[in-house]
Amino acid sequence: MENNMENQPTIAERIHALEKKNEVAFAGGGEDKIKKHKSGSRLTARERLDVLLDPGSFVEVDRFVTHRCTNFDMEKTRTPGDGVVTGYGRVNGKLVYVYSQDFTVFGGSMSRTQANKICKIMKMAEENGAPIVGLKDSGGARIQEGVEALGGYADILCQNALLSGVIPQISAIMGPCAGGAVYSPSLTDFIFMVKDTSYMFVTGPDVIKTVTHEEVSKEDLGGAVTHSQKSGVAHFAAEDDKHCLLMIREVLNFLPSNNLDDPPIIPTKDRPDRIEEDLNTFIPDSSKKPYDIKELITKVVDEGYFLELQKHYAQNVVIGFARMNGRSIGIVANQPQVLAGCLNIEASKKAARFIRFCDSFNIPIVSFVDVPGFLPGTEQEWNGIITHGAKLLYAYSEATVPKITLITRKAYGGAYIVMASKHLGADVNLAYPSAEIAVMGAEGAVNIIFRGKLKESKKPNDLRQELTQDYEEKFNNPYVAAELGYIDEVIEPSTTRKRIIDSLEMLKNKRRRIPQKKHGNIPL
Ligand code: HXC
Repeated sequence: MENNMENQPTIAERIHALEKKNEVAFAGGGEDKIKKHKSGSRLTARERLDVLLDPGSFVEVDRFVTHRCTNFDMEKTRTPGDGVVTGYGRVNGKLVYVYSQDFTVFGGSMSRTQANKICKIMKMAEENGAPIVGLKDSGGARIQEGVEALGGYADILCQNALLSGVIPQISAIMGPCAGGAVYSPSLTDFIFMVKDTSYMFVTGPDVIKTVTHEEVSKEDLGGAVTHSQKSGVAHFAAEDDKHCLLMIREVLNFLPSNNLDDPPIIPTKDRPDRIEEDLNTFIPDSSKKPYDIKELITKVVDEGYFLELQKHYAQNVVIGFARMNGRSIGIVANQPQVLAGCLNIEASKKAARFIRFCDSFNIPIVSFVDVPGFLPGTEQEWNGIITHGAKLLYAYSEATVPKITLITRKAYGGAYIVMASKHLGADVNLAYPSAEIAVMGAEGAVNIIFRGKLKESKKPNDLRQELTQDYEEKFNNPYVAAELGYIDEVIEPSTTRKRIIDSLEMLKNKRRRIPQKKHGNIPL
């Protein structure tokens, strides 16, 4: 008995053995592979978590889990963790679940084991009601495992879909992401990419060349710039790994932990009743003159801080987060500087998805409206503006969070209705004295309703001018809508900040329910 005891390792030896095991796990694919991976500003999977999370807050789960594959002598190459680091930590003190793929282990490829680890951490995030952030850097399904790896991917995709609207899900593409692997990030709420080192595509340049004979580089096909400007797949294009991770922290600061939680309140020194005199002269007298809606937004939100999403995509509509008296808000705004602020397919989809995100996570929506209508043209019609524009209508109508709308200038026709009008359930509808709320612009209206008169007239141009002026006086103002109660109040622009904050305060406990149903059928 005594002998047996002596043969057993001491606790100090056991601790030493644990340290050795940890060292092996921390080394990932080994020094050479780390060296190759870290060319440029790329960080390792663990370094990325260090930047993303509050210092010292990361707790790893499943560090020693290994794959079970025995095909192609795979049993000889088992690395603890199997190419993904999973766990939880804090971002500005708030709990966040994370996984970070390690490209140095089998190219970060998705094995059955890796998928099990990710699904486990997603389940923990769901049960404990906290956001999940996935840092992707992977060559796709682990080729040696075949369909088992595909099954793993599929389990993650299904869980992504089911967690949508329950906890915020964020993906950062920090290396390759190709084939079906792109669909996990695309099911999440926000996609961050890193310029020059990340790419996403369903089929790569080689396949494209074979099938369509097009020649395109990886970067042009699916790099961060492409996806943040052309396709709209990505919400942010970061300069490097660190920038990407810090931006994720910024976004998380605006979000609640889950759909039953309220967004955080960040105290501010910016006075809620701050009067912004500049705004009284901000909107140009001529309604044909553009202005930058982002300038107006930064003048009214807390400390001028507006975190814009999809900045380079469908720039005719602006979306993003800001705070008003410490509370998170989602902003949707027409941009008169681009396409005169017209709504088109891309803008409708961009804004609709953002509205649905805000509504899922109890973030009030403030809409700034200056919209001359939907963009005309065969391209828009043939590509389905009818269906896509309806997305925006649907998203605003079903959103039950506080909805505040401010019409700064034009609100014409269908676009007036779509942009969070009273009729779609907006709670507070404000307008500047410069607002023009009408079926259409005066000149267009006159050309249609007085076509006969203009034809008969000896001086059609003079008559057109006169009739246009009449029409403008009659309809191009906010007062007809205000008389009908479609606008609650016409405000002096300098008071915008105070009026929006007052409205948010008044709507703080808003409870509006939509009829019970399984789910609606948004025009996809
Ligand atoms: C197993 C993989 C792997 C994979 C890379 N590796 N991808 N191992 N399964 N899918 C390994 C490589 O063998 C290599 O191992 C190491 O990772 C680094 O890869 P390199 O090729 O040396 O790196 P690099 O030159 O940077 O090229 C990266 C790459 C390339 C472009 C990602 O590795 C590649 O094309 N991989 C295959 C991509 C792919 O076809 N995946 C399957 C897609 S189908 P050693 O030991 O030599 O260092 C799919 C379906 C998903 O993913 C469906 C989801 C719904």
